[in-house]
Amino acid sequence: MVGPILEVVDVHFAYPDGTQALAGMSLTIERGSKVVFLGPNGAGKTTLFLQLNGILRPSQGVVRFDGNDLRYDRRSLMELRKNVGIVFQDPDSQIFSASVLQDISFGPFNLGMSEEEVRGRVQGALAAVGIESIADRPTHFLSLGQKKRVAIAGVLAMEPQVIIFDEPTSSLDPKTAKQLLILLDDISRDGKTVVISTHDVDIAYSWADRVYVLESGRVADAGTPQEIFLDEAMLERVDLTQPWIVDVWRELRDNGYLPPNALLPRTKSALLALIRSRLCHSFRITDLVSERAAINERG
Ligand SMILES: Nc1ncnc2c1ncn2[C@@H]1O[C@H](COP(=O)(O)OP(=O)(O)OP(=O)(O)O)[C@@H](O)[C@H]1O
Ligand SMILES: [Mg+2]
Repeated sequence: MVGPILEVVDVHFAYPDGTQALAGMSLTIERGSKVVFLGPNGAGKTTLFLQLNGILRPSQGVVRFDGNDLRYDRRSLMELRKNVGIVFQDPDSQIFSASVLQDISFGPFNLGMSEEEVRGRVQGALAAVGIESIADRPTHFLSLGQKKRVAIAGVLAMEPQVIIFDEPTSSLDPKTAKQLLILLDDISRDGKTVVISTHDVDIAYSWADRVYVLESGRVADAGTPQEIFLDEAMLERVDLTQPWIVDVWRELRDNGYLPPNALLPRTKSALLALIRSRLCHSFRITDLVSERAAINERG
C-alpha cells in the first residue's frame, strides 16, 4: 500500500526552557520509503523524531500516523509506539535490563504476548541483527556497536511499521557502520519504513529515497538525493558538503571525460561502471605493456 504513513503539519515546539526547537515544520513520510534527515547540530532532527512517536507533543500543528491525528492518552500512545519505534543515538538511554535477552523481551512482554510468542519475536530480532552469540551476556559490558545492535533488536522485536534511527552510524567503526547500513536495507526490504538522521552526506546520497534538509526547526529543502545534492546554492547555505560521488562525477563531466548528459550515479560501483564504459574505447596501459613484452619475447 502506498501513501503517507507519517505526516507533520506546521508543527511548532518549544522546550520548557523556552528554546524554540521546531518552528513550523511540515513534511510527509511515504509508507515503505527510506528517508534521511540532514541538518546542522540543533536543527531539530531529534526533536522531530520525538514528535513522531508521541514522546513530545506539538505546541501547535499536528502529527498524523496512518491518516489519523496523534492522540496523547496512554492507550493511544502505546498503540502508536507499537507501530513507530525509535532507536536513540545513545544506546545507554535505551537499554535498561541487566541481560541482552531480558532487554529485547521487555517490549513484547509489555504488549501482553505469551511467553512463546515473545521467545519467537526475540529469536527473530537477535538473528536479524546477528547477536545470537551474546544473548546471555550482561548488557553492561557490551561494546558500543553491540549495545547499538541490542537497542535495534529491542525495537525490531516490537515489529513496528516505521523504525526511526537517530544518527545510527555515529561513533561506530567503519566495518560496523557498513554492516548497520546493510541491516537498514534488510529492514527496508522487509517492507518497513526506515527513517534516519545523519551528518554523513555520502550515506544520505547513496541510501535514501528521499532527503529532508532541516534548518532552525524548519524544512530547508526536500527531494530525491540527486535533487538535493545538485543544489549547490542550498548546500552552501546550510553548510553541507557534496557527496564524493557527486564531486567526482562533476569533475569528470566538466572536464569532458563524461558527456554533458551523463546520468549522475548513486553508488560507487555505478560510478566505476560509468568510468569503465568511457575508457573501454581507449587503450589500456596494461595492454600496451603486455603487447610490448610479447614483442620482446618474440624477437
Ligand atoms: N531538553 C531540551 N531542553 C531545552 N532545549 C533543548 C532540549 N533538547 C534540545 N534542545 C534544543 O532544541 C534545538 C533542537 O535540538 P535537537 O536536539 O532536536 O537538534 P538536532 O538536529 O537533533 O541536533 P544534533 O545534530 O546535534 O543531534 C536545539 O536548539 C537544542 O539546543
Ligand atoms: Mg540530534
